[in-house]
Amino acid sequence: MEVLSSIAEKYAQKYTSPEDAVLAKINTDTTATHPQAHMLSGHVQGKLLEFISTISRPKYILEIGSFTGYSALCLARGLQADGELHTIELRPEDADTCGKNIALSPLDKKIHLHVGNALDIIPALPYEWDIVFIDADKTGYISYYEMVMPRLSKTGIIIADNVLFHGQVLEETIKGKNALAIDAFNKHVAADERTEQVMATVRDGLLLIKKKDQ
Ligand SMILES: C[S@@+](CC[C@H](N)C(=O)[O-])C[C@H]1O[C@@H](n2cnc3c(N)ncnc32)[C@H](O)[C@@H]1O
Repeated sequence: MEVLSSIAEKYAQKYTSPEDAVLAKINTDTTATHPQAHMLSGHVQGKLLEFISTISRPKYILEIGSFTGYSALCLARGLQADGELHTIELRPEDADTCGKNIALSPLDKKIHLHVGNALDIIPALPYEWDIVFIDADKTGYISYYEMVMPRLSKTGIIIADNVLFHGQVLEETIKGKNALAIDAFNKHVAADERTEQVMATVRDGLLLIKKKDQ
């Protein structure tokens, strides 16, 4: 089940500023050709990611799970002039599509695509992150969170996608390894004394996490 009704989703799209031509093309092409097109952030969530980024003006952004490049291009909009977005994709075919899609945008010079397992690549990136978008394999969320937390800037935020996992975390008995992993991640963050968070019921659920004010 999708938590947000398709009627509400369509209404939200209608009253959200439109996608630019490159994002619209990536969305249309991915939907037409990729069997897992539902993984793409999409219009409303993409615009929200862009908003967060343009408001916070990050220098360094980390994205875990590039897919076809849609969310990377949304997040990169807010980068400082000399800012960098690093995005990691495990599957070479998706990374190839991502690279081609990013090349369609003038933001491509700021985007660095890494192909491989995020668990191996994250420790090799020597940056202090202003925004981290966790959107890869659900069973890895807690590891990614713990890996990036020591490298999160004082005012940085972590955004985790799919925290409602198609409504499956709402079931009385949660089944399936991904839904169980997401539920464990949500509980893990809630118990973390270092942070505060808000769960936004946008699309499949976004958890926005920041360090507590010192
Ligand atoms: C939900 S999709 C990302 C969607 C994209 N962020 C967007 O909003 O358009 C998840 C992606 O993470 C990738 N992925 C899964 N496990 C990974 C890992 N261990 N390291 C890096 N990428 C991984 C998958 O291949 C897939 O392309």
